[in-house]
Amino acid sequence: MLQSVPTSLRQRNRASEAQMLRTLNTFAVDLMSIPCVEDLFWYVAQNVVGKLGFVDCVIYQANDAQTDLTQAAAWGEKNPFGRNIINPLVIPFGRGITGQVAQTRKPVIVDDLLSDLNYIPDTQPARSEICVPLICGGRIAGVIDSEHPEIGFFGDAELEILSTVAAMTSAKLELLAETGRSQRRYEDLVVAHTQLTRETENRKALEAKLFEARKQDAIGRLAGKFAHEFNNLLTVIAGNIELLELDSPEVGSQETLQDAKTASERGAQLIRDMLAFAQRTRLVQQTVDLNAKVIAFCEECDATLSRGVVKVLAKDIWPVSVDPTALENMLLALTLNGVEAMDTDGVLKITTENVFHTLAEAPNFPSDLTPGRYVRLSITDEGRGIAPELLEQIFDPFFTTKTVGEGTGLGLSMVLGVMRQSGGTVAVHSAVSFGSTFDLYFPAIPIATE
Ligand SMILES: Nc1ncnc2c1ncn2[C@@H]1O[C@H](COP(=O)(O)OP(=O)(O)O)[C@@H](O)[C@H]1O
Ligand SMILES: [Mg+2]
Repeated sequence: MLQSVPTSLRQRNRASEAQMLRTLNTFAVDLMSIPCVEDLFWYVAQNVVGKLGFVDCVIYQANDAQTDLTQAAAWGEKNPFGRNIINPLVIPFGRGITGQVAQTRKPVIVDDLLSDLNYIPDTQPARSEICVPLICGGRIAGVIDSEHPEIGFFGDAELEILSTVAAMTSAKLELLAETGRSQRRYEDLVVAHTQLTRETENRKALEAKLFEARKQDAIGRLAGKFAHEFNNLLTVIAGNIELLELDSPEVGSQETLQDAKTASERGAQLIRDMLAFAQRTRLVQQTVDLNAKVIAFCEECDATLSRGVVKVLAKDIWPVSVDPTALENMLLALTLNGVEAMDTDGVLKITTENVFHTLAEAPNFPSDLTPGRYVRLSITDEGRGIAPELLEQIFDPFFTTKTVGEGTGLGLSMVLGVMRQSGGTVAVHSAVSFGSTFDLYFPAIPIATE
């Protein structure tokens, strides 16, 4: 074994010193690409032995509390396991030569271990030892230790080389720590940025909701006031038409009066829809079985709609409280819209279903609906669908895509007003060219009062 031990560096000549400098240079360049502390320690241990001519090298890493050193890498005769340490040795600060170097932060050379009181005997006999500290950011990061079987093997040259290696290793340790800190700072920033983006989006959504609510409120007030005033005028007009009818027996003027009467009735219907949107209709709520109402409505309207309606009605539907006339108006407005949106062969479907709206289920329900039990009545058509950019406007009063005289734009706003006034709401799902579904949510009557 001893024959393979390299000559002490003190005996090296200038040429070999130049070689040593070149080796240290390569060492410094290699360190740059090492990605983590573990790889760094193994690289240093291996190369102190392999390229710098030491027979063994053990690197100990200090713990955060600065109380213990733990074997982190070992290369040479003492570690036959390659890049692996079985039962890493743990040495308290202050104990043995390595522990002393960690505590005093000063390098130590021991010429004859057998006469040194600090020496902790090992399985492999060694006679001399050198140990240098690794200092990083003012703290002990560990120590680099090497032993040799000859007495007095280590001198100034070895101390200089190992101290240079330790300085380079410490610098790299600082760099790795800084990289880790930057990575964590970057990750924190990413988290903060994601959170901020989410909060901004939430705020924007809230602002949009608030704006929508204010808009609905403002239009509602205006529509309500206008409808009220206009209703007074209509009452006068309708009254005068009736008087004229009595006074004018001629056929021609009767026809003109009939036209005026039809127009004023149409005006009155408009006013009712506007009042409904403004949630100012006097609703006469009754306990209603929605299935029975749907069946009755379809029987009456099959002829008007000029097609059959497919009914998918859930059994044991909960009773709801709603004004029956308003309910009929809503069914009529929605089925007419559906039929108008379809070709002659499209199918119109009415579905009823009991639904539980819990907080966990919230994403599946309209955002303006509070959790609770509801009966959902859905009217689905296979018509042209509604473009996404129009979805927000269709409930506005007077919004219509129909030509003048064909649409008033008051159907859906009336539905929204009645549903809100009844403690529920209406939602729409639509896909252009495939059709639309309008979901009416009626609050179920609380069980105790059913
Ligand atoms: N089932 C539907 N399919 C396609 N578009 C619809 C449907 N229901 C409503 N709409 C759109 O919403 C608009 C507003 O509807 P509504 O308030 O009932 O007024 P109107 O029917 O008088 O136009 C319609 O003009 C139409 O563009
Ligand atoms: Mg309509």
